[in-house]
Amino acid sequence: MPAIVVERLSKTYFTYKRPPGVWSAVKSLFRRERHEIQAVRDISFTIEEGELVGFLGPNGAGKTTTLKMLSGIIFPTSGAARVLGYVPWERHAEMQRQIALVMGQKMQLWWDLPPYESYLLLKALYEVPDDAFEKRVHELAEMLEIRHVLHTQVRRLSLGERMKCELLAALLHRPRVLFLDEPTIGLDVVSQKRIREFLREYNQRERTTILLTSHYMQDVQELAQRVLIIHHGQLIFDDTLRALVERYSPSKALHLRLEQPADAETLSRFGRIVRMDGLEAVLEVPRELVSRVASEILQSLPVYDITIEEVDIDEIIRDIFAGKREAGALVNTAGS
Ligand SMILES: Nc1ncnc2c1ncn2[C@@H]1O[C@H](COP(=O)(O)OP(=O)(O)OP(=O)(O)O)[C@@H](O)[C@H]1O
Ligand SMILES: [Mg+2]
Repeated sequence: MPAIVVERLSKTYFTYKRPPGVWSAVKSLFRRERHEIQAVRDISFTIEEGELVGFLGPNGAGKTTTLKMLSGIIFPTSGAARVLGYVPWERHAEMQRQIALVMGQKMQLWWDLPPYESYLLLKALYEVPDDAFEKRVHELAEMLEIRHVLHTQVRRLSLGERMKCELLAALLHRPRVLFLDEPTIGLDVVSQKRIREFLREYNQRERTTILLTSHYMQDVQELAQRVLIIHHGQLIFDDTLRALVERYSPSKALHLRLEQPADAETLSRFGRIVRMDGLEAVLEVPRELVSRVASEILQSLPVYDITIEEVDIDEIIRDIFAGKREAGALVNTAGS
């Protein structure tokens, strides 16, 4: 059984607005203007147990809304979902015990208490036995390197320490499914790296299913095998990171360093010249021809060094969000 199944899930928020002014306030007692925001539109996907999936999309795309539906915080407007076999918004106690949601923007630990005190409350809530609790806290605190802050008031901790303490709290009861909404937001590069390393290790060790949103491509690049991309509430991509690069970027860049200058005419036989500067040149070559072209170059030019580079993923993603790269029908339906 897959850990998460989502079928044609949609969420429309309704908000009521009225123009400023006394008269409109009176009128609005009788008739308020209703605004609809289609935050999530008809999305479907399946996530297998143990998968770590990156969930990408620009601001307002519908990521948090989706995670909230899947963790049972809000109801969908239509569609269906199952998390570990349960309908999340029915909030079965059995499901609650097996999932966790961590939001980088919203702390769940008590501000005035040391983390450890909060953990004790969670321990009672989830009915974790004493020895299992101590062992778990110890083990996770070791992995996260936060043993020294467990007894310090949360308000006195740095953002990175707080985030790590949040993660420990969420993992205390060994959830089988973990929803992470921007767990590295606002952290410095070192803390981001620590949290990524932790998540990778944790996912491998415990086979926890993880769905992770982030605005930092590094997170996704280093952690996720598979990515979902949501844009204006619609799922526009569901496949591996590799497939994303291959599909959106049909060419690679060949960087050449030559021993003697070559002329443009010679170079252009091998690919489109992106840059030419004395002994250095960059050629754009169709992906499927790269190895052949590279060996031809090595045979016919005085090459000092040659490197083959992938187009920057950050750039690809930015282009997709900006609509510069065509994103039609890219959802891989083979698996669902
Ligand atoms: N409680 C709400 N009431 C009304 N509209 C909402 C509510 N929550 C979110 N929205 C709107 O729904 C859309 C999707 O929001 P959501 O928070 O899911 O986006 P997101 O992908 O998480 O964005 P970000 O990357 O900025 O966190 C946005 O247009 C947002 O303004
Ligand atoms: Mg969000």
